[in-house]
Amino acid sequence: MAKKIIAANWKMNLMREEAISLFNGVKKGLSAHKETEIVVFPPSIYISDLISNHPLIEVGAQNFYFEEKGAFTGEISPFQLKNIGCNYVLIGHSERRELFDESNELLSKKMRSALDANLKIIYCCGETLQEREEGSHLEKIQSQLEILKSLTNDELNAISIAYEPIWAIGTGLTATLGQAEEMHAFIRRILIDSSSKELASEISILYGGSCNENNANELFNCPNIDGGLIGGASLKVDSFLKIVDSIK
Ligand code: PGA
Repeated sequence: MAKKIIAANWKMNLMREEAISLFNGVKKGLSAHKETEIVVFPPSIYISDLISNHPLIEVGAQNFYFEEKGAFTGEISPFQLKNIGCNYVLIGHSERRELFDESNELLSKKMRSALDANLKIIYCCGETLQEREEGSHLEKIQSQLEILKSLTNDELNAISIAYEPIWAIGTGLTATLGQAEEMHAFIRRILIDSSSKELASEISILYGGSCNENNANELFNCPNIDGGLIGGASLKVDSFLKIVDSIK
C-alpha cells in the first residue's frame, strides 16, 4: 500500500513570523495522525527555521538547481538542502514549468541530482484546460511521466507523483471525482509499466488543485488517490488540519 502523504505548498507566501506560527500550529494539531506523512514546502529562506526533529513533519524545498556546487549565483543545490536536514523536493510544478520555462530536459537533470543527493521527490504533472477540452490530457500526462522510465526500482521508491490539473490550481475549480480517479488510475498503470505491480502500488499519487477541507474527504476516498498537494488551503492551520483529518 502506498504511504498517505499530505503536502503543503506555501509557494511565495508568508513573512517569517507567519511561517513559524503556521508551522507551529500545524505541529500542535498533529499528534493523532501517525500514519500520514506531512510535508511542508515553505519559501526556501524559512527551511532552516522550520526543520525540527518532529517525527510527523518533513520540510521540503519548492525549488533547487541541479548542479552540486559552483558558480551558479542565486541557486541552491540539492546537496546543500540535504545537508541542512531537508529531505524532500518538488519537481515539475506547473508554475515552474510555465512561469520559469522549466523544460523536460531540465526536469530530468533536477530529478537525477535530487536522487543523487538522496532526497525524496514529489514529481508534479497535469494538463491545461485546453488539453483537457481537446482530449489530449492522457497523452500530456504520459509524456510528462516519460522522465521516470530511466529510473531504477530503488530510485522510483524515492518518488511520489502529484497529479495537478493546471485548470484547477488556485482557481477554486476541482477535478470531479471521476476525472481525478481516472487520471490517478492512468498514472498507476504507467507506473506498473515502468516497474512492477508491487512497486507501483507503493508509489503515492497525490491530487492537487483547489483541494480543500470540503472536498478532501471524497477525493482521498478514491482508490488511487493517496493524499494531496495543497496550496491555498495549506496557509491556514484549521483548514490544513481538517484536510489532514480527512485522510483515512
Ligand atoms: P491550490 O494549489 O491548492 O491553491 O490549487 C495547489 C498547488 O499548486 O500545488
